[in-house]
Amino acid sequence: MEIIINKGTLSLTEGDITKQETDAIVNAANKSLRGGGGVDGAIHRAGGPKILEECIKIGGCETGEAVITSGGNLRAKYVIHTVGPVYRDGLHNEPNLLGTAYKNCLKLASSKGLKSIAFPSISTGAYRYPLEEAAGIALSAAINYLKENTDIELIRFVLFGEKALDAYEKKLKQLI
Ligand code: APR
Repeated sequence: MEIIINKGTLSLTEGDITKQETDAIVNAANKSLRGGGGVDGAIHRAGGPKILEECIKIGGCETGEAVITSGGNLRAKYVIHTVGPVYRDGLHNEPNLLGTAYKNCLKLASSKGLKSIAFPSISTGAYRYPLEEAAGIALSAAINYLKENTDIELIRFVLFGEKALDAYEKKLKQLI
């Protein structure tokens, strides 16, 4: 599914984010930046040791913040690492932290002059964020960014599995 917003494209697709050819792909990391499972594990496996070396130099990342490394062996030139909130009950600032993570990734991509970025569904795996709610926060951040800026031309969400893709497509239809 793809929609045009202002001068940019918002795209939803199912697949493995490590295969994306966008300028940057986003990693759902943890604060240590030392790798992990899920999409973090997939990106480090596919991208090779250079990414971890750069992450270790950076030292860490706070929840909601974003840092950038090269893409290593990936097709994407850069990996933007962010840390989503661990979901507790939605009453501990999780929605704001999740939205901030997306916004900081977009700001960082823009500051590097990047034109395209691919996101996984941050926090909806090991961090247990409910998919529908997370999709609303993620898509709203992307829609608002494209409405207010024309520097990034493509924001793509790469969903892992049909259930996630369906949840994002349903939410996007509600939001537009
Ligand atoms: N491509 C795209 N999406 C993926 C991929 C992949 N290759 N692998 C997993 N996903 C999806 C999951 O299905 C989920 O929808 O990414 C989403 C985020 O799940 P996690 O990777 O578990 O990330 P998160 O919930 O943010 O938890 C982060 O998990 O891997 C550790 O080090 C990481 O501690 C951190 C925590």
